[in-house]
Amino acid sequence: MSQPFIELDGVVKRFHEGEPGEFTALHGITLQLARAQVHVLAGPSGSGKSTLLSLIGGVARPSEGRVRLDGAPLSGLPEHHLAALRRERIGFIFQRYHLVPGLTALENVRLPGVPLGWPRERLQARALQVLAELGVAPRAHERVERLSGGEMQRVAIARALLTQPPLLIADEPTAHLDAALGRQFLDTVATLKARGHTWVIASHDPRVIGAPVVDRVIHLADGRLRGEDAPC
Ligand SMILES: Nc1ncnc2c1ncn2[C@@H]1O[C@H](COP(=O)(O)OP(=O)(O)OP(=O)(O)O)[C@@H](O)[C@H]1O
Ligand SMILES: [Mg+2]
Repeated sequence: MSQPFIELDGVVKRFHEGEPGEFTALHGITLQLARAQVHVLAGPSGSGKSTLLSLIGGVARPSEGRVRLDGAPLSGLPEHHLAALRRERIGFIFQRYHLVPGLTALENVRLPGVPLGWPRERLQARALQVLAELGVAPRAHERVERLSGGEMQRVAIARALLTQPPLLIADEPTAHLDAALGRQFLDTVATLKARGHTWVIASHDPRVIGAPVVDRVIHLADGRLRGEDAPC
């Protein structure tokens, strides 16, 4: 592998550190992920998939070890640098969507473009374009709390794609998508991979794990790596 896009070196994550309820969710993960590939983290509920995604995405910091993105040491960056890097380089599709209630689908999708200072017309056009690509343009002006689970999921995906960040992280992105929408999501994954985007997706959906677009399936169990499937 040429210089890996993402490098994890001895990553440990403990919750409630030093308290009576201390819990180790990840036990020393060392992993290298290549650019422009699709990586799936698989494993049973509680195995640490979401925790690992949050460390790769720079929304949480490891208790021990290091995370590097394109050579930059995420774990050592001060919070404002990390926030800027997240804004510019990482699109996050969260397991529970994290849409902002009270705002419409369109307003939610526009959010990542606001701190980048995009002109209003460009932001509006691009947000409508991604909503249309995900098939939710007709719901653009509806407040997000009035959408179905599948619609919320697609709005969350559209928001992550707005700025076309080089790294896309998705937590159970197909959990509420039917067969057709699931395929559509995998087509989007393939299109962006072909353009050089890197994906890290947590999923136990056989449709995702077995998809031809996936380059690596990395299995987790009890916060440890448990081998890999051979590439398709
Ligand atoms: N903020 C937290 N505080 C305490 N424990 C946590 C916290 N977040 C996660 N955990 C624990 O860490 C372990 C791994 O959780 P994680 O959410 O990463 O699992 P997962 O593989 O994503 O599961 P699922 O498939 O259910 O989403 C679980 O036992 C969970 O209870
Ligand atoms: Mg999870």
